[in-house]
Amino acid sequence: MIMQKKINCIILASGNGSNALNLIRIFHTDAGEDKSAACSINISAVVSNIEKAPVIEKVRIAAPDIPVFFLPYASVSEREYFEKELESIIRKYNINCIILAGFMRILSKEFVSKFHKKIINIHPSLLPAFKGKDAIKSAFDYGVKYTGVTVHYVTPEVDAGPVICQEVVKIEENDTLETLELKIHDMEHKIYPAALKKIFI
Ligand code: GRF
Repeated sequence: MIMQKKINCIILASGNGSNALNLIRIFHTDAGEDKSAACSINISAVVSNIEKAPVIEKVRIAAPDIPVFFLPYASVSEREYFEKELESIIRKYNINCIILAGFMRILSKEFVSKFHKKIINIHPSLLPAFKGKDAIKSAFDYGVKYTGVTVHYVTPEVDAGPVICQEVVKIEENDTLETLELKIHDMEHKIYPAALKKIFI
């Protein structure tokens, strides 16, 4: 008999939630065959720091059995409360991996150090190029011919942790910011599940 090793993941998201929904579809909703794998990824919970973020409603509709939590974290003054509550959810659901999917807040150095190599992020550029917010627009405005997507471990320095995988997206002459955004998001939806499988399966 194959012993299953479950990797319990929590997703942190602040916005639209396309990456969160994609991971839920792959590892939860459509997971049939993967569930019998020797090691399987389990999406245990979703947390958003924005009460009205579309991701909250989308997850509730797509996967009503996944608990979704709203923990306020709009300004730095709320970070301590957010991280304390998040830690209690992490303990309750026996979480092994924290997946940032469009989580638009910075976690404290203390929190990140406590969960060393357990927090993973996706960033819409080829790091170390175009760190920070609006990376797709920054790459487009700069006029680079190639940009891409990076999945990396989170370290206290923002967008600077060890790279897990990267994929290139070519910017064609006729691309607009909108078409580039679509191409980047398509690539994100391929690379994030692939990165998690690479680590855990
Ligand atoms: C993605 O572009 C991701 O790389 C970045 O934030 C965006 C989130 O998009 N960190 P979504 O909310 O998953 O649609």
